[in-house]
Amino acid sequence: MADKNDSYLSARESRRISRENRKITNEFEKKRKRKNVPESEYLTKMHDPDNMVEFDNLHTYFFTDTGVVHSVDGVTFEVPVGKTVGVVGESGCGKSVTSLSLMQLLQRPQGQVVDGEIRLNLGDKAYDVTKAPNDVMQHIRGNVVSMIFQEPMTALNPVFRIGEQIGEVLQLHNTENRSEEEVKQRTLELLEMVGIANSEGVFRMYPHELSGGMRQRVVIAMALACNPRVIIADEPTTALDVTIQAQILDLLRQLKDKTNASIIFITHDLGVIAEMADFVVVMYAGRIVEKGTAEDIFYHPAHPYTIGLMNSKPVVGKKVEELYSIPGKVPNPVNMPDYCYFRDRCEMCVEKCSGKYPETVQISGTHFVSCYRYYEQKQGGK
Ligand SMILES: Nc1ncnc2c1ncn2[C@@H]1O[C@H](COP(=O)(O)OP(=O)(O)O)[C@@H](O)[C@H]1O
Ligand code: SF4
Ligand SMILES: [Mg+2]
Repeated sequence: MADKNDSYLSARESRRISRENRKITNEFEKKRKRKNVPESEYLTKMHDPDNMVEFDNLHTYFFTDTGVVHSVDGVTFEVPVGKTVGVVGESGCGKSVTSLSLMQLLQRPQGQVVDGEIRLNLGDKAYDVTKAPNDVMQHIRGNVVSMIFQEPMTALNPVFRIGEQIGEVLQLHNTENRSEEEVKQRTLELLEMVGIANSEGVFRMYPHELSGGMRQRVVIAMALACNPRVIIADEPTTALDVTIQAQILDLLRQLKDKTNASIIFITHDLGVIAEMADFVVVMYAGRIVEKGTAEDIFYHPAHPYTIGLMNSKPVVGKKVEELYSIPGKVPNPVNMPDYCYFRDRCEMCVEKCSGKYPETVQISGTHFVSCYRYYEQKQGGK
């Protein structure tokens, strides 16, 4: 039984699942599409006013024909004002889905936040974006939270000039009622801000005329156009070569210092996190397995998965025969086990690991881990 391919479904079973899914997602969609939703429904309070964003027990599922994918399954972490939080984990662990939940840009109707809150600090008040209606989200996207996507070519339209595309973002959120000339001035300013010297020239170019690094700078300029308070950078340098990658990381650091925005920096690369992050969240199969300050995670990694990630990180000047990679595979997100998700790959198991999924244990003022190895240290922590 255990070896049976559990992702195989008959056509009949698949039809039954999609009927049930539609029932559930229709309910969510009906709620979202309501007009004139009173603010009281999505008004909330930050648990700590020094936080810009608070993800609280976030559950985001995809209702697919082969079953319900638990992409994000109870994620809790904070993004303090003006700080960078690195979110790290292997491909498919739920990093992008977490950030798309904050933007409310999940693929609908399949993708839905089914439980939890995402509190967003708007200064004089706070909203739970998981409950905010579409028109409110339209204002929040770009003006308060914006996103730098992984692949600049998909974020840029090949048939429009760079200047037009940045100008369009400014016009769309034109809260300052800028004239056409002012929009152009602001566009040139943004291009210069992201380190493009020939701003007038680039203003008139098409995306294909730019190198990968230049395109990524343009995408960053677009994300910064309306002075967002939160910038989500989803693997912003993965498609770039190493030198350009270093330049873009430098640029992001400078921009952050200038604007004091918070950054959620998503990557599968711990080396990049080390350069960027104040705090680190380690995700595995839709859950957070460890979180803490960058120092906690880099100098005192606690979860066997984080320790494995550290070993798989290439170190400058250290010659390795073969890059270490953690053996084994991630469990099927439709059919998660009820024990520790990492157990089948874990080389540090203790007796208790046969029990249910381990609770989160606090091992220092800032450092949290979900692993039975730390149960003796702090029994029953949350
Ligand atoms: N539109 C979708 N439909 C179904 N499943 C999805 C969709 N988008 C993401 N998922 C699933 O959610 C999980 C998390 O994906 P994602 O957040 O994109 O991972 P990553 O950490 O690489 O960014 C994966 O198992 C992925 O297959
Ligand atoms: S709980 Fe056990 S199986 Fe899971 S990561 Fe910790 S030691 Fe490994
Ligand atoms: Mg991703």
